[in-house]
Formats: sequence, C-alpha cells, structure tokens
Amino acid sequence: MKKSTSVAWQSPSNIAIVKYWGKHGKQYPRNASISLTLSAAATTTMITSTPADGLRVSYLYQGRDKPEFADRVERILGQWAESELPGLRDLHLEINSYNSFPHSSGIASSASFMSSLALGIVDILSAGGLSPEDAGAMRRVSHLSRLGSGSACRSIYPSVAVWGEHAAYDGSSDDHAIAWADVHAIFETYHDDILIVSSAEKAVSSSAGHALMEGHPYAATRYEQAAVHMQWMRDILRAGDIEAFGEIMENEALTLHGLMMNSPTSYILLEPATLSIISEIRAFRKEKQIPVYFTLDAGPNIHMLYPHSEEARVSDWREEVLRPHYQFAIRDRVGRGAKKLSAHEASQILRPDADFAN
Ligand code: PMV
Repeated sequence: MKKSTSVAWQSPSNIAIVKYWGKHGKQYPRNASISLTLSAAATTTMITSTPADGLRVSYLYQGRDKPEFADRVERILGQWAESELPGLRDLHLEINSYNSFPHSSGIASSASFMSSLALGIVDILSAGGLSPEDAGAMRRVSHLSRLGSGSACRSIYPSVAVWGEHAAYDGSSDDHAIAWADVHAIFETYHDDILIVSSAEKAVSSSAGHALMEGHPYAATRYEQAAVHMQWMRDILRAGDIEAFGEIMENEALTLHGLMMNSPTSYILLEPATLSIISEIRAFRKEKQIPVYFTLDAGPNIHMLYPHSEEARVSDWREEVLRPHYQFAIRDRVGRGAKKLSAHEASQILRPDADFAN
C-alpha cells in the first residue's frame, strides 16, 4: 500500500516598514527591507502527499476549485521541483488552503500563502520533521517562499524580519530573510488596524510595479534612501523610539506610492478615502499627542499602527471619526510567525463551510 503523509502549517501576512520595491534576477531585492509579522491575517495550508510517477498537484482554495490559483501553485511547485527539490518529482500533492481574510479584500495574500506552502512542502520532504526552531531549515523555507513571492520570505519569523543584505544587520541576505530580535519590547505590543478602503482587484500588479523601477529616474536615489532608513531603523528598533519609527514608516509608504505616480508609466493606487484617513491620522496625532502612524502596501488600504497602550483611545476615535472612510477593518497585531498545526486544529480551520474570521 502507498504511504501518505499529511502536514498543516499556518503562516501570517507581514507589513513592511522599510519597503522592498524593485527586484532583479530570480526575485532578488534591489534594497533591504524590514517588516512586522502579523497574526490575524494568515493562511493555513494542509498538504497530503502520496508517491506518484512525476509531480501531480490538486489544489483547493477555501474548499473549492480555484483554477487561477491552482495554475500559480503548479508553476511554483514545478519550479521548486526542477531547481531545488527533486524529491517533489515523484509525489502526488493534495493541497488545501484557507485564508483568514477575504481574498478579494485587497490584502495581499501571496505572502501568507506562499510561506505556508513552502513550510508544508519542506515539512513533507523531511517526513514531518520541520521545526521553527531549526534556523537552517527556516532559512531554506524563507528562500523557497521568496521564489514564490518576494515579501513572503519575511512572514515566517516572529515579530520582526529583515530581508536583503545590509551592513547594519548581521546575517542579512538577499537570498532569504532572517529574524531580527534586537527590538525593544514596545514593538511586540503593536497593533495594525488594516482599514479596507477598497476591496477591488489592483489595477497594476506588484510584479508590474517592481518592473517599473527598472529605468525609473529616481531608482538609484530610492535604493540609497532605503539603505539609510534601514540603518536608522536598526537603532530605532533597539531604542524603542516610536516617533522616529512612525516618521520613517510614513515616509516609506508615501515614497512607495510616489514612485508609482512619478514613474514614466504613471499609475495611482491611492483612493480619495486613503488621503482622508491619512489627514485624520495626522491631525489626531498632533492634537492628542498619540503615537499612531500609517503605512500602505501596494494598494489603497491603510495600515494604522500604534502600541497596545493606546488601544482604547485609538478605537474610540477610529469608530467615531474614521469609520465613514473605510468598508471594514481587520484588527491585527504583531505575531509570533508561522506555526505547525495538528490534524485536528487544521480540520477545524479547513472545514468547507468555514467562514471568514472578519
Ligand atoms: O512580494 P511582492 O512582490 O508582492 O512585493 C511586495 C511589495 C510591498 O508590499 C509594496 C513592499 C514590501 O516590502 O512588502
């Protein structure tokens, strides 16, 4: 009888503080980046493997067929099998993944999905022996995740991750992300209220956006600026300087969108409501002296970040002042990275009628 193995991993999304924007070769970053790992926005992926002749893949998303995702899954598995994981070449993989947040919410699901897939695959190939404590194995998972989606390589680690070689970060590498633990405890308490302004599919994919950095008139200046921000960020994180953290984070978000707007092929992902929320956040911060700051990824939705000690005051104001400007919120927090689930835990999450957490 053929032997089958099943594993399940849950991996979160992450939000970049210093952004990765611009890539070359096989998904190598043009500059180093640093992110906070989230927890509520996560993907659970369960994989069952049985021996087969050649790589065969069946894929379900949220318990249903989703051909456009299945194509992407097959492509990355084919790439891994060809270049680095020959053990995949004689397996039938049944893959079932579930997002804790709606796919169409405008939240990038590729970071949490690609990292959960890489974790499951490496675990399958090590006969269920993968442990998040094994730094070498996690570097390998991070490397494979990067090939699937650049920012995915940062998602697996607790709290703070660095991707891209930078002299201020020992052990940093373009090939994979590393966990960064030299961080003041205040940042472990951070909330990220993700305010969904528009859940429409993005007009320009992040791959197309990265490509527009090649030949961008400000590219070289941008990469220098990112390196300087990374340098400052190391000391800011160590000292717990939440104002400096917020100032750089906002500058990074607006730089990212500035680069989109002023590239020779210009595009704008910000919505009027994004700008309304930004100006409300800045006015509230100034008037009440509360350290609440925003960032953005490649879309119109606001990530509003603040330490846990400010939760009550920020929540009251959000409901009263910001509520008309967004469709719904995913209230997230800094998290502990990826984790392995038991078969029972996975079955609770992957049941076909499971509803979204938000
Ligand atoms: O990982 P990608 O190719 O989807 O690019 C993500 C880029 C940003 O989210 C805008 C920034 C980042 O560092 O995550």
